[in-house]
Amino acid sequence: MHILTMNDLTNDDMFDLLHTAEGYRLQQQQQLIKPYYTANLFFENSTRTKSSFEMAERKFGMNIISFDAQTASIQKGETLYDTVKTLEAIGVDVVVIRHGEDRYFDQLDGHVKLSIINGGDGMGHHPSQCLLDLLTIYQEYQSFNGLTVTVVGDIQHSRVARSNAMALKRLGATVQFAGPKEWMDQDLQQIGHHIDFDKAVETSDVLMMLRVQHERHASGMTFSKQEYHHLYGLTSEREKKMKAHSIIMHPAPVNRGVEIADELVECERSRIFKQMENGVYVRMAMLQFVLQKREAKKHEFVN
Ligand code: CP
Repeated sequence: MHILTMNDLTNDDMFDLLHTAEGYRLQQQQQLIKPYYTANLFFENSTRTKSSFEMAERKFGMNIISFDAQTASIQKGETLYDTVKTLEAIGVDVVVIRHGEDRYFDQLDGHVKLSIINGGDGMGHHPSQCLLDLLTIYQEYQSFNGLTVTVVGDIQHSRVARSNAMALKRLGATVQFAGPKEWMDQDLQQIGHHIDFDKAVETSDVLMMLRVQHERHASGMTFSKQEYHHLYGLTSEREKKMKAHSIIMHPAPVNRGVEIADELVECERSRIFKQMENGVYVRMAMLQFVLQKREAKKHEFVN
């Protein structure tokens, strides 16, 4: 069992994961019965995803096999496939992988017995971020039905936008997009309309601001930081026009003063650090989910 994209999960799975994560939030440390082994393979930079998976693994008492992409044999030309097969051969049960290539996991799916959790693939998918975002919204509204969620900014380059838009639509939310039209993703137009940002500010229950992903822009940013902030950034003036009880989210890292005004990052409506906290519980739930499915499959085989 892998979790590579949100399509690997049914709606029931998503709710099960949210309820399990919420359970972990309310309880204390958990210990898995068997000593499982995990490795976190991060070929792209990360603070939140890497450290909160590690926190989740430690809370479970899992054994973490250290892996550093800078000193691994990948640097001698070893493929990702052989790297993962090696970890499987030495007894690793679960790998969390972040990789710059879209759908890097296609070369592994069906060829490895260990479980893979996708920690983000290029501009593709980010299921653990999606689930922690879902948990944050669910804690606020106890439902997705009837909510209006606007995803704002660099949509085309965002794996968070893709995973969240697909999952939120499936769960009954109205998803819409705002920001530079040239950064809109054509495929996501089937999920929601692109609307004027100022209109979105006044009508959304959730404003999901996205980081401008400079590193994925072919020819640099087409706006100055000030220009972008003026046109598409969440300024204090705009925040005052938001609906009562509506919330601000951002997957982070945040470009303060670009996507969102510095003073709004920790304002009352902001759930940005709550999202990070939820990341640990959601990742615990994901680890438990894949390990349980693995055990069930082993028993099926034995019986
Ligand atoms: N939101 C997110 O994926 O953050 P990191 O890149 O720091 O993991």
